[in-house]
Amino acid sequence: QKKGFDHFMLKEIFEQPRAIADTLRHYVDTDTLTLRRDRMPFTRKQAVLLRQLTIVACGTAYHAGMMGKSLIQRLARIPVQAEIASEYRYSETLATENEVVIAVSQSGETADTVAAVRKAKKNGQRVISLCNVIGSTIARETDAVLYTLAGPEIAVASTKAYSTQMLLFELIALDLANLRGELSDEELREHLAELLRIPEKMEQILAQKDMVKEFTRRMKDCEDVFFIGRLMDYYSSLEAALKLKEISYLHSEAYAAGELKHGTIAMIDDTTLVVAIATQESVLEKTMSNVEEVRARGARLLLLSDHEIAVPAKAEVWAVPQTFDAFAPILTIVYLQLFAYYMALQRGCDIDKPRNLAKSVTVE
Ligand code: M6R
Repeated sequence: QKKGFDHFMLKEIFEQPRAIADTLRHYVDTDTLTLRRDRMPFTRKQAVLLRQLTIVACGTAYHAGMMGKSLIQRLARIPVQAEIASEYRYSETLATENEVVIAVSQSGETADTVAAVRKAKKNGQRVISLCNVIGSTIARETDAVLYTLAGPEIAVASTKAYSTQMLLFELIALDLANLRGELSDEELREHLAELLRIPEKMEQILAQKDMVKEFTRRMKDCEDVFFIGRLMDYYSSLEAALKLKEISYLHSEAYAAGELKHGTIAMIDDTTLVVAIATQESVLEKTMSNVEEVRARGARLLLLSDHEIAVPAKAEVWAVPQTFDAFAPILTIVYLQLFAYYMALQRGCDIDKPRNLAKSVTVE
């Protein structure tokens, strides 16, 4: 049931505040602001012994995995690699001692991710999964499963599964950081309290849907869309570009902002829309200097930020509600999903059933 929405994708975008709140309530004791130990995948001893994490996934779930890499390295100071499952399964992966593998999959049935799980298990590694579908193959075959409580995701384009996967990585990163002594109990409480404010901040973005729609009406004729950002904003760019191309068939690419000048900037002219994401304080100035470079080459510009920034002439700015830098991507993606949705709508595409795509890729 679409419950009054024109498409499942839009309904699922709007379900995100509820999905985040449900997932939070499952893993967090909201009275004491602590994590429910029996629902988290590591004991203190396992967390202390952990030397390496490898995340395997495909598509949007892989992008959530890249966020996981960034969050766990930043907060818990554990080396993490994120691998595309179709590569991992055939690569000369070296299993190291005290390494744990995390598989991410909405459906729990993606063939390449299932194969990656089986390879890791064959190597004798402990495998944890983040899944949305209860009792799915990956959930059954892994040593521990953390469910996203997103509810059924019908649209081919993944939205609420992605944001809840990111949320689980935020919780895992905070838990590991706390167990390893990188984050005090008080700091953990502050972070959890901020996460509990995310649903309300998502609602603030959803309330801007008409503004997003109007912007896409003006941009629907552009020929290319480049999403740029640094660090976690680069990972949001990857997800935004995938979302846009899969449902609107518009050419889009994501670039780490500092990479543009190594080739891609040659493509930029006034038919290009550049969407710059600037939420990460440590690289804000650097990203803004890249924004200036593309502006000087005539690109149309949209800027997403939760910081006070000097807005370049003629740029459109969408304000992201303020939060901790580590949590900003879970908010920016809501704007970027709406953007992809309305672009596809303007271009008359079959949003819930894009051409050549299936919801679950169960063959190689
Ligand atoms: O079910 P999974 O999370 O394993 O699916 C992985 C990808 O096939 C999926 O995320 C795909 O990239 C989506 N269509 C993206 O919106």
